[in-house]
Amino acid sequence: MTYIGLDLGTSSLKAILIDDDQRVLAEHSVALSVSRPHDGWSEQDPKDWADATQTAIRALGVASDLSDVAGIGISGHMHGATLLDASDTVLRPCILWNDTRSAIEAAELDANPQFRDLTGNIVFAGFTAPKVAWVRNNEPDLFDRLAKVLLPKDYLRLALTGEQVAEMSDAAGTSWLDVQKRDWSDDLLAATGLDRSHMPNLVEGSDISGTLRDTLADDWGLPHGVVIAGGGGDNAASAIGAGVVAKGDAFVSLGTSGVLFAASDAYQPDAASAVHTFCHALPDTWHQMGVILAATDALQWLSRLTGQSAAELTQDLGALQAPSRTLFLPYLGGERTPHNNADMRGQFLHLDHATDAKQAARSVLEGVAFAFADCQVALRSTGTTIESALALGGGAKSDYWLETIATTLDIPLMLPAAGDFGAALGAARLGMMAASGAGSEVATMPKIEKTVAPDPSLTSAFAETHARYREAYSVLKDI
Ligand code: XUL
Repeated sequence: MTYIGLDLGTSSLKAILIDDDQRVLAEHSVALSVSRPHDGWSEQDPKDWADATQTAIRALGVASDLSDVAGIGISGHMHGATLLDASDTVLRPCILWNDTRSAIEAAELDANPQFRDLTGNIVFAGFTAPKVAWVRNNEPDLFDRLAKVLLPKDYLRLALTGEQVAEMSDAAGTSWLDVQKRDWSDDLLAATGLDRSHMPNLVEGSDISGTLRDTLADDWGLPHGVVIAGGGGDNAASAIGAGVVAKGDAFVSLGTSGVLFAASDAYQPDAASAVHTFCHALPDTWHQMGVILAATDALQWLSRLTGQSAAELTQDLGALQAPSRTLFLPYLGGERTPHNNADMRGQFLHLDHATDAKQAARSVLEGVAFAFADCQVALRSTGTTIESALALGGGAKSDYWLETIATTLDIPLMLPAAGDFGAALGAARLGMMAASGAGSEVATMPKIEKTVAPDPSLTSAFAETHARYREAYSVLKDI
């Protein structure tokens, strides 16, 4: 049997095909773009996701035989509000996870103590409920036609199966889920003018959520009856792909966003810390994470500014150096952990005549590392200590960045050997669990290519600069 994993990322949709031994038989990625029509806005057209899925699965079919696919798992960027009318027509572009237009609505909902009590989280501007509240306030005609709210990957599920279903790990990021009970909260839905009829049914990530439409199966050369697993939000799915499921397992992810993720066997929320506490993609498990909005996105910004690619900017940086006086605060679109500040923006400090693109690149890599260090402090304040972490995501290709983060966090980082399959592999594994009845034993840790240790001669220099970085935020946030 074989299994397909689909990961709807912010910058690309990736599809992989694996066999029962989890060998990757084929993979294909299709680039996606983000539209930013106003400051703080970030949108995608759901039609682009469906088109990219068609292209990616057809490409898998060219590279490999798909006639023995038994299961498909789906993963995607979290929190997006995909709004449908009663005939499943998309009402407006999807408002994405890194869109902060709904800061006022988020603060209003967050002031209602039921939200933190039941969801275990701050109502961040990027979460789904405040976005729907924004639509209600600003696009009332659309709100009147709203029949269903789907998360981005669940819109793909609708396209694949015709079913409206969500799963726990992604649903936990809506601000409507009772995260301990793993069920929608009628009270929280009512607080945004909605009820259960606006929500998809809920399953666990490893459960069956539906079967592939026969027409698509015929079109793509798959058998009839292929099951679609619940899947997971991209962070939970990455964790399944990296074997981060038991208490104490952790990863740091350098994707468009940055995530410091720790698996947990219990629900232990601490909303005030700005740490996210969500359901994991397997039954009866949860996880905590610190989330920063711009990781590789910060480097992409510098790349656009300098006209040098991210690879060019990060190559030839040489051996790890102590941070210079130049500081970069990566808050290009506001920040979640630890600040919950949608209005903050990025900063470059202490530029001098000698500051060149190379120094600017080092400062950007350091700034993201300091933002991760803030997440580490926030996680520690909840009692979660990370001893070591897997390094995932496109940014993990830069040795200099890994050395910077390992030294700033003062923990070893393990780089997986095989390609960067992350959330797509996790999704395929969830597809395998749903189709075969296998359990968490298939979510093994990858082979490690190398371990990047902190440089003990530089940890105090990084700690001192992290303190300056924190001070810079506290001085600049109100200007
Ligand atoms: C998590 C978050 C991001 C997105 C995009 O809370 O907003 O990590 O899932 O990857």
